[in-house]
Amino acid sequence: MSKPLRKVVFPVAGLGTRFLPATKVVAKEMLPVLDKPLIQYAVDEAVDAGADTLIFVTNRYKHAIADYFDRAYELESKLHEKGKRDLLALVRGTLPRHVRAIFVTQPEALGLGHAVLCAKAVVGDEPFGVILPDDLIWNGGTGARKKSALRQMAELAEAEHAAVIAVEEVPHDETDKYGIVAATPIDERSARISHMVEKPKPADAPSNLAVVGRYVLPARIFRLLEQTTPGAGGEIQLTDAIDALLKEQGKVLAYRFEGIRFDCGNKAGLVRATMHMAMQDPQLAPVVREFLGRL
Ligand code: G1P
Repeated sequence: MSKPLRKVVFPVAGLGTRFLPATKVVAKEMLPVLDKPLIQYAVDEAVDAGADTLIFVTNRYKHAIADYFDRAYELESKLHEKGKRDLLALVRGTLPRHVRAIFVTQPEALGLGHAVLCAKAVVGDEPFGVILPDDLIWNGGTGARKKSALRQMAELAEAEHAAVIAVEEVPHDETDKYGIVAATPIDERSARISHMVEKPKPADAPSNLAVVGRYVLPARIFRLLEQTTPGAGGEIQLTDAIDALLKEQGKVLAYRFEGIRFDCGNKAGLVRATMHMAMQDPQLAPVVREFLGRL
């Protein structure tokens, strides 16, 4: 893909049933890892990758996400009056000034592919990223700051003129939770995909290389999504449309990003992410160590 990445789509219309009852009223993307909601980690990653237009594909229950990125005038003026500059900066800093947030709705839950298709009119005719905020990817922290996973992928996509999909090895018995790729290695991190399949049973899986929630895609994918019929789970699958892209364009890359991925779509992953982030914090790390010692 020759143009730099400017737009990133966040499919956030899921129900979050694994976190019920909390998700009765709290969007799962608003669940915090320490003091930041999952969606903030995803947005920070998109902005690091160069995005200035963020497209949230949402539904009528997810107003909190729009509110979170909006100005909070009453809170801001109270913090201002009290001279709490640090807190004011935090509250105002959820979205950098040069970045705009656009909300589109997914009227029916017809699958990830359908959610991405809902962003078609806003993305237009340019390459774009997709981030699934459930997958939190930590890239080395703020000290020795490294490139975010999406930035690594955007650079590869631009250099190689190809779509790039993030992948990671998963246990063989978990292939039915992921999109799985068959790929021929190019170097240590990238591989050329020959085939992709959504949630195959372990016996049918072409490998244990799983798609994780980061994609850099060309606008062409929208036409292919329009032609995609319901696949695994009766849903319109992004994986199926990417497989069609592969057959048409011949070059789609799988990329093993540098970073650690936490699957915050389930409780174990959210606990791991929270503990990991706490261990990066000089004040919290000794607290966690001491508490775990006592446990
Ligand atoms: C989605 C994709 C799947 C991918 C996964 C990564 O599945 O359809 O290909 O491996 O995200 O998190 P979901 O987890 O939404 O069922």
